[in-house]
Amino acid sequence: MVEPNFRDLGPLRGFRPAQNGAVALELAGGRAELSVAPDGALRIRCNPGNTLSTDPLPGIGRAPWPCAKMRSRERDGGVSLIFACQDATPQVDIDADPFRVRLLGRRGATRAELFDFASASGSGMRVAVATTASERFYGFGEKHGGLNKRGSVLEMRNTDPELRRRRDPLYVSIPFFLAQDGFHADAQARGVLLESAAPSRFDVAASKDDRVVLETRAEHLDLAIFPGPHPADVLRRFTARVGRNPLPPLWALGHHQSRWSYASEDEVRKVAREIRRRGIPTDVIHLDIDYMHGFRVFTWDPKRFPDPKGLLRDLALDGFRVVTIVDPGVKFDADYGVYNEGRAFGHFCTRDDERLYTLRVWPREAALPDFNCEEVRSWWGEQHRKLLDAGVSGIWNDMNEPAGWSRDVRLGRVIFPYRGQNTQAMQQASLEDPSRKVRHEMVRNVYGYQECRATREFLEEAYPERRHFLLSRAGFTGIQRYAALWTGDNKSRWSDLRESLPMLLNLSVSGVPFCGADIGGFAFSATPELYARWIQIGSLYPFARTHSMWLGRRQEPWRFGKRVEDIARTSLERRMHLLPYFYRVFREAEFTGAPVWRPLAYEFPEDPECAEIQDQVLLGPNLLLAPVLEKGARKRTVYLPPGVWFDWESDARYAGPRHLVVEAPLEKLPIFVRGGSILPTQSPVRHAKEVPKESLRVEVFPGLDAATELVEDDGETTAYRHGVVATTELRMRARAGGRLRVEIGARKGTHRVPERVVPVIIRGAVWPETVMLDASPIACGEGPSTWSYRNGRLCVRYLDDGGAHSIEIEPAP
Ligand code: GLC
Repeated sequence: MVEPNFRDLGPLRGFRPAQNGAVALELAGGRAELSVAPDGALRIRCNPGNTLSTDPLPGIGRAPWPCAKMRSRERDGGVSLIFACQDATPQVDIDADPFRVRLLGRRGATRAELFDFASASGSGMRVAVATTASERFYGFGEKHGGLNKRGSVLEMRNTDPELRRRRDPLYVSIPFFLAQDGFHADAQARGVLLESAAPSRFDVAASKDDRVVLETRAEHLDLAIFPGPHPADVLRRFTARVGRNPLPPLWALGHHQSRWSYASEDEVRKVAREIRRRGIPTDVIHLDIDYMHGFRVFTWDPKRFPDPKGLLRDLALDGFRVVTIVDPGVKFDADYGVYNEGRAFGHFCTRDDERLYTLRVWPREAALPDFNCEEVRSWWGEQHRKLLDAGVSGIWNDMNEPAGWSRDVRLGRVIFPYRGQNTQAMQQASLEDPSRKVRHEMVRNVYGYQECRATREFLEEAYPERRHFLLSRAGFTGIQRYAALWTGDNKSRWSDLRESLPMLLNLSVSGVPFCGADIGGFAFSATPELYARWIQIGSLYPFARTHSMWLGRRQEPWRFGKRVEDIARTSLERRMHLLPYFYRVFREAEFTGAPVWRPLAYEFPEDPECAEIQDQVLLGPNLLLAPVLEKGARKRTVYLPPGVWFDWESDARYAGPRHLVVEAPLEKLPIFVRGGSILPTQSPVRHAKEVPKESLRVEVFPGLDAATELVEDDGETTAYRHGVVATTELRMRARAGGRLRVEIGARKGTHRVPERVVPVIIRGAVWPETVMLDASPIACGEGPSTWSYRNGRLCVRYLDDGGAHSIEIEPAP
């Protein structure tokens, strides 16, 4: 960004209650509006001049900001605003000169201090958020580099970077951060969101270590502060405002197999056959751009895909779903219906002289729909009917930054873009008033977001009973309402594998729980060892897809020899084994905003050791993954936070906090489970539709007392939103007298679960003296109402008829 010239907005001149429940502030050089939501989150909007700009939230599909009741008190040099919120009465102190805003929490502690409000000549705003020398910064959406972004300057402008030089900025802009300060009982977290569709920049205590400086190119500033104290509180409040990831269909949580491209019906059938023949658990096959007729979106190539319906029907019989890529660029072609229609209705983005704006993408010259207009979104959504009618289950939105170039040279399939895209002249509808045009640049960061919104809104309206799956490359704050994200064109390099961890963790705490990186790397070719290590951890990415570029080697799991194929199968079987646990964590994401992948610092904010760990992750609250990320490494050091931890495979028990060197031959992904957890699992399946031999196994890791809720539903429809679920409380208590008691509550709810035998597996157990089921001793055996013991695992089987059951074991492990 060119360094703009900033001018201070000046001191506070006066304030008054505004109509919507907010407080209007009059500054010497501008206007502001401040409000606190009933959950304690603060929003401040301001701009230079005499009137406040229109609220942009409806333009991106967000609900109006709610306002809590307020009373004010004049104080020396300013005013105090006291808000009546659900669980506290936060106070906002405003200093008049210089103008400063302080959000105060319990006992008057400062939660956030905003100062240095300034506007740029031309267009642009700036504000500073005070920080301490010890605060750590996570989030910022999709970013390179380490987990803690303190000391970085980060740009937010959706960009398709050159493959060779992947650096900031990337495809996604989420101008939000989660900051954590202090440790032990003083640990405090807060979130800061800059709601700006225009490019912005964060100086994260890089230039001055007492402040984070936020700059946007927009004409107005729109900033929100989400108080903690725990990171989970911040994410709950933040996602309550910007939206949460709806529970995906179960099949979308399986493995996705992709390549640029499976380019004919025969090739797709062959891949599907191999997957099943080799028993590699997989749910989804992705069709990249070559399924289309000359890269025309919403068409099929008539020669290579003569009967899409038939193909997709056969694949479905074998348990496969198909996801097709849809790029926003509509081929400039007078014989193409979608183009003609879009042109006739004026649905495309224009130049500043009203002529059509086109750019070069796969289909050569292409026009871009203006998704900021509601009628364009409905028109675009409708186009998907053709794909859905053919049996397509999900949509993959790519190139939606939007990406493209202005000239290229083509040699067969090889395309050399040789001049970058010039978006300076491009115009789009304004978010505040779609009848008005603005420079594309000012709304660029929501382009892909609005495309996904168009697609999802159509799918939800046309098929309201189904849960949908969308995948996007570009994104903006709140994209999780509409789509999952993958991190774009990575490379088959160890450094890209390593980087995927902090990148996905930061995306996760930016509100996007359903995210993944291309397993094996997109560009170039993975070695067998790299692929093995990648699929080990990648199979536990929230979104697990193997993908590769046509120039590199094929990266289906069996392309690297038998040993690696076995590793891939075991890894994906583990994902399917853990599917009920994944599902539970995804439910949590929808209902509380907690991420699926969590930095250790998120779960253990009070532990200084966890603050910078970026080569380990927590999958949900209980599973700690410590993948091998170095070429040739056969062991690694693992940090175990405070508490009891079990080795997932050997059941060896460790007391944290401690460091541990673990052996990790190529076959092993080190995983640890928190003592005091109950994991719902199942026996592995080849795809989510297959009925598992055991649809529920309850795996118990003793330690602290624990309780969890198991929620089962049909895995596919939206009936769960209307309460069609089956809920079971699971509890574990270490009782006095050396007994362990596991309680299974009576099942509640209307979703039907057939009678079944459920094994409850106590990990790290000793040979028991007595095992009681429902208060009666039971015998060692193999059937229902018996127990067995092998290698430190005690398995108690009960007949699950929906009633309450209890298990008592003596001695307790
Ligand atoms: C972009 C995508 C990649 C896709 C390719 C062809 O590079 O990021 O995933 O395979 O386009 O569609």
